Amino acid sequence: MRIGIIGFGNIAASLLDLLDRSDLTPAHVAVLASARGADAARAQLAQRGQLRPHTQAVVTTAEALVEETPNLVIECAGHGAVISHVPTILQAGIDVIVVSVGALADAALAETLRHAAQAGGAQVILPAGAVGGIDLLSALSVADGLEVRYRGTKPPRAWAGSRAEDTIDLAATSTATVFFQGSARQAALAFPKNANVAATLALAGAGLDDTLVELIADPAAAGNIHSYEVRSAIANYRMEIESLPSAGNAKTSASTVYSILRAIRNRTNWVTL
Ligand SMILES: NC(=O)c1ccc[n+]([C@@H]2O[C@H](COP(=O)([O-])OP(=O)(O)OC[C@H]3O[C@@H](n4cnc5c(N)ncnc54)[C@H](O)[C@@H]3O)[C@@H](O)[C@H]2O)c1
Repeated sequence: MRIGIIGFGNIAASLLDLLDRSDLTPAHVAVLASARGADAARAQLAQRGQLRPHTQAVVTTAEALVEETPNLVIECAGHGAVISHVPTILQAGIDVIVVSVGALADAALAETLRHAAQAGGAQVILPAGAVGGIDLLSALSVADGLEVRYRGTKPPRAWAGSRAEDTIDLAATSTATVFFQGSARQAALAFPKNANVAATLALAGAGLDDTLVELIADPAAAGNIHSYEVRSAIANYRMEIESLPSAGNAKTSASTVYSILRAIRNRTNWVTL
């Protein structure tokens, strides 16, 4: 398999580590880095390359990434990169795993992606990320009376640099504090680095405007806790997932990268699960 990766930060580097330890080692890895980040990405890849069997390249445009002929591209760079790169790749007929799921809360961008995917005969694949139960929620999306409530709890340091700082003093927070209540769309647009799970649940189930979200800073939280409740005419369930924060970025649950690996495996295996 030849893969393209947009962005070379925490998730991309962890994913390459995981791929290399799995039975899915790619034959070729092409990284699309920003012009400013290209030299650092080249140096990092070169260091890794001494140990790895795959060939590799660093490019700085979506067109150049397409020329690397990846079978699959994984976006792990952020909303800006989804806007500037993903449509070109979809139009070229290449499927893209979009990890920055919250970007789809921007209705105009979601439309652009839809048109590009249809024009290229390609698909956007959204990984479940840190959360489970997306299969059942997606199945229940057509059930009557669907209601979904999500609570995302992280330690205060995981909210640093986000709009949570407009509402509470993170350093002084001594008990679990709700600093945001609203729709998944509002959460994803206001907290682009922190509300991907809210967006994923919403896109799978009741939609971005009808999925209720609470975001919480809790100094007692050892990791990132994603809990949600689903009620519908067909089935009700509750789920709580406590994940270690990823070693390189407290905002990201460590399980996210495993979910991306699963999405890649499902693209290559003879059976999907
Ligand atoms: N789906 C989920 O459950 C989930 C969970 C965690 C994080 N995320 C999202 O995944 C994305 C990546 O997370 P991360 O922890 O690896 O972030 P990171 O900040 O560690 O890495 C992002 C990298 O992308 C690069 N980049 C930014 N804009 C770019 C562009 N236009 N072109 C090329 N490169 C660009 C940055 O220089 C950086 O190297 C974020 O959008 C984050 O919100 C999703």
